[in-house]
Amino acid sequence: MAGKRLKGRVLSVASEAVPLIKTGGLADVAGALPAALTAEGWQVRTLLPAYPGLAGRLAGGKIVWRSDDLFGGPARVLAGKVEEGDFLLIEAPHLYDRPGGPYAGGGRDHPDNPERFAALSWVAAEIARGQGLDGWRADVLHAHDWQAGLAPSYLKMASARVRSVMGIHNIAFQGIVPADRLARLRLRAEDFHQGYLEYWGNISTLKAGLIAADAIVTVSPSYAEEIMRPEFGMGLEGVIAFRGRAVQGILNGVDAAIWDPAADPHILPFSAARPEAKAANRARLLAEFGLDAVTGPLAVIVSRMTHQKGIDLLADATPGFVAAGGGLAVLGSGDPWLEEKMQGLAARHAGKVAVRIGYDEALSHRMFAGADAVLVPSRFEPCGLTQMYGLLYGAIPVVAATGGLNDTVIHASPAALAVGAATGITFHPVDSLALSQALRRLVQLHADREVWAAMQGRGMRSDLGWAAAARAYSRLYDGLLAQ
Ligand code: ADP
Ligand code: GLC
Repeated sequence: MAGKRLKGRVLSVASEAVPLIKTGGLADVAGALPAALTAEGWQVRTLLPAYPGLAGRLAGGKIVWRSDDLFGGPARVLAGKVEEGDFLLIEAPHLYDRPGGPYAGGGRDHPDNPERFAALSWVAAEIARGQGLDGWRADVLHAHDWQAGLAPSYLKMASARVRSVMGIHNIAFQGIVPADRLARLRLRAEDFHQGYLEYWGNISTLKAGLIAADAIVTVSPSYAEEIMRPEFGMGLEGVIAFRGRAVQGILNGVDAAIWDPAADPHILPFSAARPEAKAANRARLLAEFGLDAVTGPLAVIVSRMTHQKGIDLLADATPGFVAAGGGLAVLGSGDPWLEEKMQGLAARHAGKVAVRIGYDEALSHRMFAGADAVLVPSRFEPCGLTQMYGLLYGAIPVVAATGGLNDTVIHASPAALAVGAATGITFHPVDSLALSQALRRLVQLHADREVWAAMQGRGMRSDLGWAAAARAYSRLYDGLLAQ
């Protein structure tokens, strides 16, 4: 703890966290923020469901909570270390011990997700208010996304003196549950009204958290503003506006222990000062993807394949880009129609476009290391992490001008180039015409070796670590505890 005075105790509650389980950026953030907060003087424990295989990775697992009936079956919580992190894992076989991912199996959502994540939130409130066997209690409960959304409500129901923060990583996922599950989720009928749990006739666990929490944090300042408007608020804009003074945006960081091109075991190391090996990483990547007809910039995408990510826009934007010499390597999985669309694109442009369907952490590192550019054409993006990995790995980000993408990339306008500030390319509106123009600009910039190298260097030297965010969260928690 670097000799700092203990400021307080934080229980971080999420459905995924690195290094135990990851499907997207939430896991990166829930995994990295605790260490950064620890350096600020907070003691942080992270509560997760014990999905299959997770409990075995806990060192020194000690039982700190048990129940005979956690939403329909027995459960216990194990406390222990995974690497440097303090984790609490909820073992509840009837809820979490099953094949598939954290949210879905066999191509469909687990039907009891409302109970599975209400249970996570319930246990969070229990542990936070000191009901565990080791007497630990939290000063602040930090709930991430809809899966932890009921935790602030359960704290309130218990009149617990624990401050709560509702973290929004993506307001598109709202935890919608049919109203007839109210009692099963251990919620009170009198709380089911428009000003609290009710949302268009259903329950929304995210809305519950937005109303009940003491503070609300989104993962970038721009997204905090965007979600006050209907285009981005996705129905919850009124709630966000209502809680306006409690809402702030704190930009995510990048975990330097995992994303450092000078010390990354998956690649040939390089840095801004010693960039030579970047070219060898590029050559390897081209060979790995069979991209032998690329003469211009090599762009990569590492992404969930969903409508949010705007990947469909590439169908129209790619032909012009590859005709100008560009190449494209894509790694991702998600909606079958998008996977097929991307595979079709690769088939039409053999040697210039290649697609890998799947999830592959090591390959993603090789892609950022070998790429000239990273594309993020998202329709909305609360923060976005891959554009930041791109910056650090010398891959120029080409991003939609939205949310956290806007907060992390400085567009190569003539003015920004003149003062030596540009780090990438942003485009708006998010459509295939604007994306095509951005890719044309990419080809132009890539041809100007001097400007290109300067942009690359700036990105690689930028400070994207967690320290600034941790200070902001620390101030927020301090403020809550002073109330
Ligand atoms: P989101 O959380 O909306 O998916 P982010 O950009 O915040 O978007 O985070 C996505 C994270 O998941 C990044 O760490 C990215 O590298 C990783 N990722 C996404 N798809 C894949 C994949 N197919 N293989 C490996 N890593 C992936
Ligand atoms: C969500 C968002 C993404 C953000 C991540 C981590 O998955 O879609 O933009 O980077 O959470 O906060």
